[in-house]
Amino acid sequence: MRSYKIAAIPADGIGPEVIEAGLDVLKALAERDGDLNFEVTTFDWGSDYYKKHGEMMPKDGPDQLKPFDAIYFGAVGAPDVPDHITLWGLRLPICQGFDQYANVRPTKILPGITSPLAGVGPGDLDWVIVRENSEGEYSGVGGRAHRGLPEEVGMEVSVFTRTGVARIMRYAFKLAQSRPRKLLTVVTKSNAQRHGMVMWDEIAAEVARDFPDVTWDKMLVDAMTVRMTLHPQSLDTIVATNLHADILSDLAGALAGSLGVAPTGNIDPERRFPSMFEPIHGSAFDITGKGIANPVATFWTAAQMLEHLGEPDAAKRLMVAVEQVCADGVLTPDVGGGATTKDVTAAVIGAIHGANA
Ligand code: IPM
Ligand code: MG
Repeated sequence: MRSYKIAAIPADGIGPEVIEAGLDVLKALAERDGDLNFEVTTFDWGSDYYKKHGEMMPKDGPDQLKPFDAIYFGAVGAPDVPDHITLWGLRLPICQGFDQYANVRPTKILPGITSPLAGVGPGDLDWVIVRENSEGEYSGVGGRAHRGLPEEVGMEVSVFTRTGVARIMRYAFKLAQSRPRKLLTVVTKSNAQRHGMVMWDEIAAEVARDFPDVTWDKMLVDAMTVRMTLHPQSLDTIVATNLHADILSDLAGALAGSLGVAPTGNIDPERRFPSMFEPIHGSAFDITGKGIANPVATFWTAAQMLEHLGEPDAAKRLMVAVEQVCADGVLTPDVGGGATTKDVTAAVIGAIHGANA
């Protein structure tokens, strides 16, 4: 029996609804396989935990997570707790503490889902955004002085290290090389930001030499938004800094039809620590408890998790099932349907057990 230890952290908002759906789907995959097992432990960390204990997770939280093969994460953020507390109390300490430096965000237009771009359908937009996930604008370096006084100052320092940039470039080139088009776009802003971003460009060019079969180009981040919108077919793999990729991946999700389907993997490529898989959409308190959260992003990220665990067949089976269900029009309201989270989950489980999967 191939068995994996999964730490589930449903956390806030619709997180528990979509993670429950995701765990049901994993169970179905295990049953269908017959020789596959997921040993799931659920942690109650998040904003409610914070309101009771004054911290988002226990001090030894990361130590508790270390023995797991992967982390399956819901969403973090609550209307009554400041965002920087929820984020820096739970998700970022896991990403940074476990050196999950590659944040991988695939985007494509799933069958049955309509892009807001006229004339753009499945096949025209099939990207993977690789987000630097350990430093850059999210390094947490900076400070505030003279609070409340007219001379108050706040500094948010972007940190780029040769090690950090080289390893994300290498990851992105390798990923581009593994995809049929072998095409990589390096996003930058080295016209205005003349230190870290110029180094970023130089390291990209150095790493490129080791990947002669990958075609690559460079785009300024502002122009990149235009290219993504007007020429989506011209892009394949994309690498960008922490903040640039944060912004571009929201745009990518919207162009592909909905953030409700966009997944992400926070990956430690060296496998020293568990990697963490989550939907991008966030806690969505406006629809929490209504049973209409789109579970597709959480299913897609489960497929990323299965790939990472070395279970490509199960990953493929899950994505085939998800695409079939989308094509059949079993869609939640965010993508124009009338189905509930449970309807979509039941349909995907049905497809997993079905003849085609
Ligand atoms: C994302 C999110 C987070 C980020 C938020 C919740 C801080 O927008 O995963 O893209 O900026 O990293
Ligand atoms: Mg974001």
